[in-house]
Amino acid sequence: MTDGLIAAGTAWSDLRVCVVGAGYMGAGIAQILAAAGGRVRVVDQDPELAVEAVRRLTTAAVAFEARGLMPAGTAARVALNSSPARSVADGVSDADLVVEAVFEDVAVKHAVLEEIAASAPKGAVVASNTSAIPIAVLAEALESRARLVGMHWFNPPQFVPGVELIPGPDTDRAVIEWLRDLLRLAGKWPVIVRDAPGFVANRLQFALFREATLMVEEGIASAAEIDEVVKGSFGFRLPFYGPFAIADMAGLDVYAGAFDTLHEKLGDRFAPPAILSDLVAAGRLGVKDGGGFLDLSADEAQAMIDRRDASYVALLHLAESTAQLTASVTPEHGRG
Ligand SMILES: NC(=O)c1ccc[n+]([C@@H]2O[C@H](COP(=O)([O-])OP(=O)(O)OC[C@H]3O[C@@H](n4cnc5c(N)ncnc54)[C@H](O)[C@@H]3O)[C@@H](O)[C@H]2O)c1
Repeated sequence: MTDGLIAAGTAWSDLRVCVVGAGYMGAGIAQILAAAGGRVRVVDQDPELAVEAVRRLTTAAVAFEARGLMPAGTAARVALNSSPARSVADGVSDADLVVEAVFEDVAVKHAVLEEIAASAPKGAVVASNTSAIPIAVLAEALESRARLVGMHWFNPPQFVPGVELIPGPDTDRAVIEWLRDLLRLAGKWPVIVRDAPGFVANRLQFALFREATLMVEEGIASAAEIDEVVKGSFGFRLPFYGPFAIADMAGLDVYAGAFDTLHEKLGDRFAPPAILSDLVAAGRLGVKDGGGFLDLSADEAQAMIDRRDASYVALLHLAESTAQLTASVTPEHGRG
């Protein structure tokens, strides 16, 4: 990288990365970026935590490789490429990419971003793993904002492919596209989304979680029962389809009818969405008639339905085989 534009075609092996915050997510992100070939330094407010995190992530890589969860050679690459740093100033001093993964607290993140900006090279890209804080809010801590982005991973970051990339109001488009291409090289599925509280994934996930907790409070079902229903019903579709493909396949008139009942019984938070009502009024009922939210040709819609059934049967087999696998394994990373 240079102080000016980031060199096109940069690969992980050319990159010096510093992960600030050696907790659960920081260690996992450090592990996967070191596995991708980046030279990764890990730093925490307590230097001992950084040393411990590097020990943990290298040991975990050995265990993952032994279990066939990471390809042969990964653990050696992780060990070679990861090291602790004693301070933020030390860790970021020659970094091309700084990943911020400290506590989800605006004041803490602002202080850490200022610390990073004081010592990192002018051309370094700074990516925050915030779960929900708008990047515009994080940017308030910085004078130079063109290289600040949101890079929101999911737990466990080694194995969940999705990463949300969020530009702040002043983020250079080239920076976010560079990061997107790099993440693809690391086998991830990055999606660039607009800056808003919770971005896309957590706004949806927390809306679902809120209704789930309300149902526990109302005594409709226990937490375990709700998990069981989700896993075996609409959750079963989610590895393959998002809410719009699912709605298009179900029929938008069916959705509109269900909304009417929910709205009447549960109130305005279930008012039918205007874009749904408009589509139904226009005779667009989903794949069965007129198209729906997704712009699919008749052939594409049919292919989606054909793939759906095969995918669900494959997932059933996978669920059965992993149930046997997980019964005999203690996870390396306990959380999540
Ligand atoms: N846990 C998840 O599932 C998840 C998923 C996606 C995003 N995130 C986000 O990732 C970030 C980290 O979450 P986590 O779950 O890893 O938390 P964590 O508590 O496990 O780790 C945070 C780490 O940051 C360190 N830290 C705090 N202040 C610091 C400072 N001033 N300088 C250096 N290090 C400092 C702490 O010592 C700790 O080790 C948060 O913003 C969180 O919202 C978490």
